Amino acid sequence: MDHRLTLTQHLLREVEEHTPGGGPVASILAQIATACKEIRAELAEVGLGTLAGMKGGVNVQGEAVHKLDWYANEVFKKHFAGSGLLCTLISEEMEDIFHLDEDCPRAEHVLCYDPMDGSSNLDVDGAVGTIFGIRRKALGAAHGQPEEVFEPGTEQVAAGYVLYGPQCMLVYGVGGNVHGFTLDTAVGEFFLSHPSIRMPEQGKEYSANLARLGAWDPAFREFVRRHSHGGESERTYSLRYIGALVADFHRMLLRGGVFLYPGDAKNPSGKLRLLYEAAPLAFLAEAAGGAASNGRERILDLVPDGLHVRTPLVIGSRYEVSAIEKLLAGDRRPELTTSKGASA
Ligand code: AHG
Ligand code: MN
Ligand code: MN
Repeated sequence: MDHRLTLTQHLLREVEEHTPGGGPVASILAQIATACKEIRAELAEVGLGTLAGMKGGVNVQGEAVHKLDWYANEVFKKHFAGSGLLCTLISEEMEDIFHLDEDCPRAEHVLCYDPMDGSSNLDVDGAVGTIFGIRRKALGAAHGQPEEVFEPGTEQVAAGYVLYGPQCMLVYGVGGNVHGFTLDTAVGEFFLSHPSIRMPEQGKEYSANLARLGAWDPAFREFVRRHSHGGESERTYSLRYIGALVADFHRMLLRGGVFLYPGDAKNPSGKLRLLYEAAPLAFLAEAAGGAASNGRERILDLVPDGLHVRTPLVIGSRYEVSAIEKLLAGDRRPELTTSKGASA
C-alpha cells in the first residue's frame, strides 16, 4: 500500500517525539497548516469572489494593503485566538504585538508571520506565500511587550512557509531538518513529498530586482558581472526573479543559487523584514545546509529592536553567499571553484 505520510503523522514523529518541548510546536505547525489551507481555498478562486484588489489604507510598512493581506491575517487570528497554543502574534499586517491574553498563561510561544508574501503578484495570479517563524517568549520579557521577540533568530524553534503556486507546498524546518509537503486538494491533507531537503552547495541562478543594480554597493554589481555572460565565472548564471521572496527562496532551496535584496543609500536596511521574512527563511536555509547574511553578518545573529525592522538579505547556497560576503569585504580575488563543487 502506498503509505503516504501526512503532515500530522510527520509532526507527531519528527517534532512531538524528537524535539525538546516539541509538543506545542507540533500543534502550532498543524494549526498553521489548517489556516493556510483556508487561505489557499480563497486564493484559488479569488477572481470569482470579493477579495480581489486593494483593501484601502496602508500598513505599518506604508504599503498599500491588498484585501488578501488583511484576510490572510484575519484567518491566522481566528485559528490561534483561544487555541491555547500561542501567547502572541506578530504580523507584517499588524503594527503592534497582538497579545492573546486568554492563551498566555498556558502558551509560551510567539508566532512571527507574513500572512501574504509577494502581494504584488496577487492581481496577476503569480506565486505568493505565507512565511512563519516560531519562537519561545524571551525569558523575563513582560507579557505582550515587543521585547518578547528581541532575541537573535537562533532562538527560533521552528520556521517554514506555505507556497501557493501551481501546487500548494508547506515546508518546515525544526532541529536542523527541512521537510516539504504537497497538498492533496482532493483529500485536503499535506503529504510528505520532499523529505530532508538539502540545499545544493552551489547553484546556477541568482535572484534580484536588477532595476536597483545602480543603487547597490559595487560588490553586488561585481558579483552580477562575474556571473553574467562574458564574466569570469565558469558558470554563467540565469536570472530568476518572481517578486515573491517565498517563491524565489523555494527555488533556491531545491536548486541552489542566491537571492539578493541589498540596502542602498536611500534605504540602507533594504526592504525585507527581519522577524517574519529574513529570520524564518535564514533558519531554513542554514538547516538545509545553505547560508543567510545581511552581507556581513549572519541573519540568525541579528537582534531586532523593533517588530518591523528591515535587513538587507543575501540568502542561498553557501558558495554564492560566501562569494558576495568576500566581495563586500573588499576581496576581489577570483572565485576558486573546483571541478567537484564550490568553495568561493
Ligand atoms: P510582501 O508582499 O509581504 O510585502 O513582500 C514582498 C517582498 C518580497 O516578497 C519580494 O521578494 C520583494 O518584496 C519584492 O520587492 P521589489 O518589488 O522591490 O523587487
Ligand atoms: Mn513579504
Ligand atoms: Mn506580506
